[in-house]
Amino acid sequence: MKSSDEKPNKKRFLTRRKFIYGAIGAACGDAFFIEPNISHISKNLLKLPHLPTSLNNLKIVHLSDLHYKPDKDENLLISIIDKVNNIKPDLIILTGDYVDHDTTGITPMLEHLSQLKANHGILACMGNHDGWTASGQYFKNAFEKHNIQFLINQNTALNINNETLYIAATDFIWNGNPNPLQTLKGIPSNAPLITMVHEPDYFDTMLKHRDHHLQLSGHTHGGQCRVPIINYAPRTVKYGKKYIYGKYSRENSSVFVTKGTGTTAIRVRFSCLPEIALHHLQA
Ligand SMILES: [Fe+2]
Repeated sequence: MKSSDEKPNKKRFLTRRKFIYGAIGAACGDAFFIEPNISHISKNLLKLPHLPTSLNNLKIVHLSDLHYKPDKDENLLISIIDKVNNIKPDLIILTGDYVDHDTTGITPMLEHLSQLKANHGILACMGNHDGWTASGQYFKNAFEKHNIQFLINQNTALNINNETLYIAATDFIWNGNPNPLQTLKGIPSNAPLITMVHEPDYFDTMLKHRDHHLQLSGHTHGGQCRVPIINYAPRTVKYGKKYIYGKYSRENSSVFVTKGTGTTAIRVRFSCLPEIALHHLQA
């Protein structure tokens, strides 16, 4: 014989199951159709050793990992450029992975990126996907035609408010040819220095060659899908397992890893919106 409270229990079970299925459906809808298309601006105070006080609060917009696909990412990129130009940044730094696997998106992407405006210039470095797709020289020529300075194992001295700020960039790390000595050549030890290195875990190697600097990186996409509340991200990508997202400090230097704006493989993001990282430098 069935007990009298079996029916309410069954009803409760079905309601709970419906709720779980509904939550999973909503999360999938968000991850596949909403989050990959909406960027957010993060605001970060980053200390830069030796920064002259006259450059305090210098505004740097840091973008990375566009993985630009013209058929899917055009609206996202247009909205990002609009938001960045509204910030009126002093500098814009692009830390690699502009494409996924082919060069067809580069020309339309650069036509969009050429709309970016910054008071003291736009600088870019190689990412591993770029290096797996075409040569560094190919990217350098293409970007520099659009007034974006492209550094590969090189540095440049920017004159801002009559002060010097050094920006240096390695080649990509994953099967690339990074050369820290060549990258840092001629930079005085007491100069303010920002390095651009696509893969963040190379920070440990850069520290062997130079302390007192700030490294800007991408590559990890912040995990691309994070577990909300506990804010956990999987550590799956080579050279992006130690420094996943945000700011880390070691030995008078720091590295900031952005979530980037694009996606690889499946176009999915969860609890990890495309990021326009706005850094305010602190002396
Ligand atoms: Fe990458």
